Amino acid sequence: MSDKVKLHLPGSTEPLELDLLKGTAGQDVINVQPLAAKNIFTFDPGFVSTASCESKITYIDGEQGILLHRGYPIDQLANNSTYLEVCYLLMNGELPNKAQSAEFDATINNHTMVHEQIRNFFNGFPRNAHPMAVMCGVVGALSAFYHDSLDIKNPEHREIAAFRLIAKMPTLAAMCYKYSIGQPFMYPQNNLGYSENFLHMMFGVPCENREVNPILAKAMDKILILHADHEQNASTSTVRLAGSSGANPFACIAAGITALWGPAHGGANEAVLNMLNEMGNVKNVDKFIARAKDKDDKFRLMGFGHRVYKNFDPRASVMRETCHEVLKELGGSQDELFELALKLEDIARSDEYFIEKKLYPNVDFYSGIILKALGIPVSMFTVIFAMARTVGWISHWLEMMNGSYRIGRPRQLYTGETHRDYVPMDKRK
Ligand code: SDX
Repeated sequence: MSDKVKLHLPGSTEPLELDLLKGTAGQDVINVQPLAAKNIFTFDPGFVSTASCESKITYIDGEQGILLHRGYPIDQLANNSTYLEVCYLLMNGELPNKAQSAEFDATINNHTMVHEQIRNFFNGFPRNAHPMAVMCGVVGALSAFYHDSLDIKNPEHREIAAFRLIAKMPTLAAMCYKYSIGQPFMYPQNNLGYSENFLHMMFGVPCENREVNPILAKAMDKILILHADHEQNASTSTVRLAGSSGANPFACIAAGITALWGPAHGGANEAVLNMLNEMGNVKNVDKFIARAKDKDDKFRLMGFGHRVYKNFDPRASVMRETCHEVLKELGGSQDELFELALKLEDIARSDEYFIEKKLYPNVDFYSGIILKALGIPVSMFTVIFAMARTVGWISHWLEMMNGSYRIGRPRQLYTGETHRDYVPMDKRK
């Protein structure tokens, strides 16, 4: 028997009783579905106080800085697991045993190549197209190649689409990069691990055998784990909304990619690097902090703040350590950027404004420095975020498809013109 909340609506003598639903952790929710019958809506622009669905995949506690994937803390997964193992966990709900892990990895490896016709799509883009523009196009177009398995009511079709998307995103991402620099596409090498294969396709060339540095492959794998899923964020909610209409999974993931692109969301890692490069050195930090605090200035300190985390983002802490490891391994010019980022973090976190607004570094603050140290161009940062988040998006899509769902159809508070009749041209002012 669930607890109730009583709502006294104007014009009703009796309060409306609404169920208070409790999860296994986190905030309780008021089931407001009966309000529709009372012809009244809730109003919550940006869905700050709205639970759009029930889910068992990821739990975030913004006050405590907790992030769990199927109950496992993100720092434990980042430090002990692999991205493909986290993919299995997010999709299936449990860590795989040895046989399940081997089978899953082999299945993903079976789908790493893309149809040769897809190579032609790239020729339609200018070489300097933003790679996220290319990814929006080519991922959505994948559905054109799988008419035999687009019945979303068929669990086997749903599963193979999930495998194809997880397997092909690194191949397509690397193709975006190769196309932008005029180098030939590299085919995946299925004897390599997932992240190693991606770095091979990014930086390998047909005319010589280049080994991928295992430390860099591990750092990339950790970055993918840290970006794999994050509850009902903007892009995941977009995927769920697209999926609720019955759109095919490739179209839904393409919708997620477009939502992720914004600088307030996944585009922040690219924006952080651009901001640090514009900042140049620690002497300019105060000027940028002042701009971030200025109500009349639209500028925000990229990589800071979060809709949910009002304490530290647990991913940022792991990312900072990884950044240190990679720079120790690689050294070089990124050190200055890292030093600047550390100084910026120190100054921002001791500033009254950031403390009062509870603005801490988020997952994007350090990721760009690592990616740059790995030799990845800034324009590819959000593509890598999309590659990592594909498993989160598809896991939420599968969770929705495997349960009962209705087409998403939010309503509104209408404040426009009420009824008025058409005015012929000669009667207008
Ligand atoms: C991601 O949802 C997810 O889980 C996303 C993500 C995921 O894994 O999917 O975690 C990935 O998107 C991380 C966030 C990356 N974005 C950025 O780093 C861009 C910079 N951050 C901001 O744009 C902002 O913090 C958001 C968009 C992240 C959060 O915005 P909110 O929750 O809508 O917060 P807000 O805009 O209402 O800000 C609250 C206050 C405001 O001041 P007041 O109106 O109360 O006076 O804090 C201020 C804001 O002006 N503020 C900032 C700031 N972020 C918020 N001021 C300066 N710099 C900032 N970065």
